[in-house]
Amino acid sequence: MPMKSMDLRIAELRRKREQIFNGGGADKLEKHRASGKLTARERISALVDPGSFLETGCFAQHRATMFGMAGKEAPADGVVTGSAAIGGRLVHVASQDFTVLGGSAGELHSHKVSDVMLQSLKTGSPFIFINDSGGARVQEGIDSLSGYGLVFYTNVMLSGVVPQISLICGPCAGGAAYSPALTDFIIQTRKAHMFITGPNVIKQVTGENVTMDELGGPDAHMARSGVIHFIAEDDRQAVLICQKLLSFLPSNNLEDPPEAPGNYHCDPDPELNGIVPADGKKGYDVREVIFRIVDNADFLEVQAGHAPNLVIGFARIYGRAVGVIGNQPSVQAGVLDIDASSKGARFIRFCNAFNIPLVTLVDVPGFLPGVAQEHNGIIRHGAKMLFAYSAATVPKITVVLRKAYGGAYLAMCGKDLGADRVYAWPTAEIAVMGAEGAAEIVFKKEISEAVDKTKKRQEMIEKYREVFANPYVAAGRRLVDDIIEPAETRKYIAQSLEYLHTKRELRPGKKHGLIPL
Ligand code: HXC
Repeated sequence: MPMKSMDLRIAELRRKREQIFNGGGADKLEKHRASGKLTARERISALVDPGSFLETGCFAQHRATMFGMAGKEAPADGVVTGSAAIGGRLVHVASQDFTVLGGSAGELHSHKVSDVMLQSLKTGSPFIFINDSGGARVQEGIDSLSGYGLVFYTNVMLSGVVPQISLICGPCAGGAAYSPALTDFIIQTRKAHMFITGPNVIKQVTGENVTMDELGGPDAHMARSGVIHFIAEDDRQAVLICQKLLSFLPSNNLEDPPEAPGNYHCDPDPELNGIVPADGKKGYDVREVIFRIVDNADFLEVQAGHAPNLVIGFARIYGRAVGVIGNQPSVQAGVLDIDASSKGARFIRFCNAFNIPLVTLVDVPGFLPGVAQEHNGIIRHGAKMLFAYSAATVPKITVVLRKAYGGAYLAMCGKDLGADRVYAWPTAEIAVMGAEGAAEIVFKKEISEAVDKTKKRQEMIEKYREVFANPYVAAGRRLVDDIIEPAETRKYIAQSLEYLHTKRELRPGKKHGLIPL
């Protein structure tokens, strides 16, 4: 038999490629698009720089033979993988193809994902995993389980070395949801659901009735579980959020975040002098302060819908990326509770791992009192903030805007937790507790013996406030480096960032610390 000519071989190659690029076939692609979603390949095209995607493993095929799998074609084994650039910087991507066996993860599928993750590790480039899958491929049994185990293991290898971002654009079902959970940021679209056990199983086991949306839709995972970091209206917005997020991050833990050179102003902003209300009980939106001190009022808030009493997110000051953490006085007076502590601590850990300086804005009345908070572990969770700040060696700049009371003052990166600069506005009240509570303890006898107890109580509160409810005592103990006019905050932070840029801090060698989990 004569060998096939080159022309025939090329024609065959083209045909095979076309078939692979057609995923699960025209009908399934059509159905997928009709549901308002982009396909696996379209998602990659939208995400990366035009023409930059270099695919690997498109001919990969499962080798399963049972349960109808013998000879069944699974183009690219249901996941498109490769290298590309975003904003000119190298990334590695895996995008599950729901049109191929429901994007289910068999042995080869998961090996492809882990291969591309290892490329991220070796080249020091972010890994982006676009999830749209029914989970472990049931027909492949233990092999698919083993494959997913490898993905989890590799997620952990990458953790803290390169940024890992998950986009959830369809189902992310069963144990497969643990891969995104092991990554740094999760962006979920409104068409996506994440759950370990679906509504049917829950109904059978617990008798609870719940819809897919209520259980694992983006609102549930933002507000309730805190599993996700961003909600996207659709695939295109998910891609935009991912690109924006990457713009603040270095490619790996050995790099500094990319700078955005420009002509930045350092003029005082008198509006800042009027943001904190004279009445200490009145709230205000800390994001107004953030918008005014960062470049171009450009602030990418993270987990905006979760524990809104603490605001976290990325911004730039004089072109340098920073992680901003601020108590939000307009929600529960900016108190620290369990959710806020976990949210803040995780963000601080991420910034520290990737050399992003921390800017902390403090207006905190304390930790949230209550039996539920105590019994659900506010001691353990609150300690995460203390641990994360103390362990962070990136530049740490703290600005006390108003209240900084008790343990929560320390937990918001006071000087003793290693803040490199602490600035206070003249409205700052740095004290062991609020004047009301303190007066009750210190002047208990005077108040109880007074004829007019209410008047005496008020007098004593004022007395305590005069002594402690200001920043001068703390500045006198060098717990505050300077008391500044709010209008000049941006300048002070920018200069501090400049002078702290070369900060290096050595810690005792150890396997790892034990953050209270
Ligand atoms: C194999 C799967 C699959 C899976 C879906 N499919 N999930 N094939 N293994 N895990 C296939 C379907 O059979 C179907 O094939 C096609 O994908 C599309 O699925 P539909 O059900 O028609 O789509 P839809 O109605 O949109 O529902 C999507 C879904 C549902 C919600 C994800 O398919 C579902 O509930 N799947 C099972 C999810 C699950 O329990 N996964 C856990 C696996 S065990 P055809 O040929 O008809 O098009 C697990 C534990 C491992 O995860 C832990 C380690 C990771």
